[in-house]
This record gives sequence, C-alpha cells and structure tokens, in this order.
Amino acid sequence: MTVTDKKKLQVITAPKGVPEYLPPVSPEFLAVRDMFAHQAHLAGYEHIELPVFEDTTLFARGVGESTDVVTKEMYTFADRGGRSVTLRPEGTAGVMRAVIEHNLGRGQLPVKLNYYGPFFRYERPQAGRYRQLQQVGIEAIGVDDPALDAEVIALADRSLKAIGLSGYRLELTSLGDNNCRPAYREKLQEFLFTLPLDEETRHRAEINPLRVLDDKRPEVREMTADAPLMLDNLNDESKRHFDTVLQLLTDLGVAFEVNPRMVRGLDYYTKTTFEFVHDGLGAQSGIGGGGRYDGLMAQLGGQDLSGIGYALGVDRCLLALEAEKQTMTDGSRVAVYGVPMGADAKREMVRIIDQLRAAGIRADMAYGDRGLKGAMKGADKAGARFALVLGDRELENKTVAVKDLAAHEQHDIALDEVVAELGKRLAQ
Ligand code: HAM
Repeated sequence: MTVTDKKKLQVITAPKGVPEYLPPVSPEFLAVRDMFAHQAHLAGYEHIELPVFEDTTLFARGVGESTDVVTKEMYTFADRGGRSVTLRPEGTAGVMRAVIEHNLGRGQLPVKLNYYGPFFRYERPQAGRYRQLQQVGIEAIGVDDPALDAEVIALADRSLKAIGLSGYRLELTSLGDNNCRPAYREKLQEFLFTLPLDEETRHRAEINPLRVLDDKRPEVREMTADAPLMLDNLNDESKRHFDTVLQLLTDLGVAFEVNPRMVRGLDYYTKTTFEFVHDGLGAQSGIGGGGRYDGLMAQLGGQDLSGIGYALGVDRCLLALEAEKQTMTDGSRVAVYGVPMGADAKREMVRIIDQLRAAGIRADMAYGDRGLKGAMKGADKAGARFALVLGDRELENKTVAVKDLAAHEQHDIALDEVVAELGKRLAQ
C-alpha cells in the first residue's frame, strides 16, 4: 500500500451513541457492574446468560406495541435466513422467554434470576442516553407477595448505596391490576377527551392515556392537574398490596416518594412500579427502574405466573458517581511493579512477578531493557504502590530493593521473603 492509498482510507470510529469503557475508566465500569451482580447474588438471585438478539415478536408482544421502545427504537433486521431478529432493547422479555422455554417456573418459586450486559435502543444520543446501554437486572418470578416487591426495591437501593451513591431519590406508585386498570383507563380517557389537546397528544390519549399524565409541557400539566389518578382508583387488592409494600419499605428504612404520575416506558407493568432518579444528571436522570409485570408471562404464551424486577443503568450510575465525586477504584493498574537491571535480574524478576500473581497480588514489570529512570516511570504510570528494584548488588545479596512509592521509603528484603512481606504490607 502506498502513502497516498493510506491517506484515502477513512478512519473508522465507533458507532454513534455507543460509549466505550477504556482504561483507566474500565475498572470502574467493572466494579460497578460486579457490585450490582454481587448484591443480587447475596439475595439468592442466580446468573442467567441470555442471547443478545431474539425473535422480533418477543419484544413486540412482550414490551408492547404502543411503546417508543418498540415503535421507534428497536434494532430490527432480517438475518441471512430471512428471520426478523432484534437486538434486545431490555432484559425482562428475554428472561420470561427463557423461563417459559426451559420450564424454570415448574420448580421452587419464586425463580430468582440476575443478568447483565449490553442492550440496544435507537434513541437520539445525548449525555447519559446511549444506543448501546449497559444494565444489571434481576427478576423474581412466580410469587405475588408485597414482601417480594419490598425485597426487590430494597435490593436496588442497597446496590446503589454499595457503589457509593447517595444523591438519588426513589419514586414509586401502583399501576393497579387487570381488574381495576381498564375501568380507570376509560375514566382517564373520558377526562382527557374533554381537553383541547393537540392531535399527537390526543392520539397518545387513545393508545396510552397514562402517558399524557407524564407530559412535561406546562400547558399540558396545567390541563391535566385535576385528572383522575390510578392511585385513587385502585381496587381493594391492589391498594392493600401497595400499602404493604410502603409499610415494609418503611420498616427497612428505605426512603421513598410516592409519585402517582410516574409513567414507565414499557407496557408490561402492573401494581408496584418504581424508578430511581439522580438529581446530578440533568435530563437523563433515571439510574434504574422496574416493577411488577403480572400478565407478561401469560401474554407470551407461558403459565400465568406473576413477576417483579428491576434494571440498573450502569452507564448512568458511572455518570452519577462522577457527579458525586465518588469512585470505587484507586486508579492503579497493579500494586507491584518490577524493575530489573540487566539480564540476570530480569530472569529472577520474571519468577518473582509470577509468584506475586500466584499469591493474588496484582503485579507487572518493565519489559524491553529500559533504564532505571524509564522503568520507574512505568511503575508510576501503573499506579503501583511498590516498585521492586533488582540489580547486581541485590542479586549478590539475595535481596530486592522495595520502594514504597506512596511513603517514599526504601528497604532491602530477602528474595525468598518478598512475596509474603508485600502481601502483608498491601493488606495493611
Ligand atoms: P428501563 O427503565 O427501560 O427498564 O431501563 C432501566 C435503566 O436502564 C434506566 O433507569 C436507565 O438507567 C438505563 N437506560 C435505559 N435506556 C438507556 C439509554 N438509552 N442510555 C443509557 N441508559 C439507559 C427496563 O429496561 C426494564 N427491563 C427493567 C425491569 C426489569 N422491569 C422489570 N424487570
């Protein structure tokens, strides 16, 4: 290839709206994701690894034909065999498909599952709103018990606290069940149709009237100020369920605000629904959300089992940590960095570094025969707490010079004690 050919080649960039997590931010990404999964495992949720693409019908039927997610945001394409497939826009529908397909609902209930990974929505990209987004979610399937709702919500709250977040609010409401929602929907529509709504909003009132209550425009807010609310129209069963959830959350010390106008972007919700909102994030303030979806499994052709779950947005939680000036990682790549001077020292250092790793200590070393100054720069760049300098003098004495890069101290340590000694110091 000639130089001019090379010039003609365009630089390829990542697709629009897709965040990438590169070092030194990527360890923070992993720490958040893994902490969320860890908290779920502590409560007995087991990992489930799902396909990244599914039959398009699953989302059309599961997420809802009237949602923006299905009508505007799905990455849908025909595969080479002519089947319509869609990159998963969310996780709940896929979990339910797997539960039905593999009969997971036939054993001990609730089935408790946890998942994480990338999801895809063709949204207009902006800060905190991406086309490839990362979630950690849980689903508890098969028991309609307000105590399970409280567990799920409290677990989301605990997960957010576990990564160090505090500046968020929990909003929740009840969307009623299939016995009281249809009558409320009609009542709300009757109210909305008396208002001078523009054509698009009127159309929305026809398909999904609840969505109109979430309209942010002041003139619509004003018009709908006296609209009937679902919370005032719950049947006894849904009301008792919701009141118990609130009571249990109070017992658990989980702070919440009831927001009767809360609307979620997915159609499957019933009864308890909730959202975690972070005030340091601007427009894309939802850092997690979820709720009950009691009709979903039957709607997908399975047993009529209830379900509740949440998904936490890893990307937005990382932004929230940044906004709160919190971090889960110390920015270091390794804890110990080897600096060998000369061929014999390098041979010995390769062995020491290997032993450190075997002892569970993060360790790396300088390669490429760099001088002392260059190699020490490497130790610094790696964020190492200790540099191990090994030259002819140390080799002769069977020692290694251990430089504490934070305390600016240096000690000689016997070669056969260095692993144990560093383990001890790093644990302090
Ligand atoms: P969701 O509210 O659509 O719920 O998404 C959950 C979280 O994913 C949001 O709170 C947000 O943090 C993050 N998220 C969503 N879209 C984007 C985006 N475009 N860019 C960045 N982050 C985003 C669900 O997905 C449900 N499946 C949750 C659930 C589980 N409900 C019951 N079980």
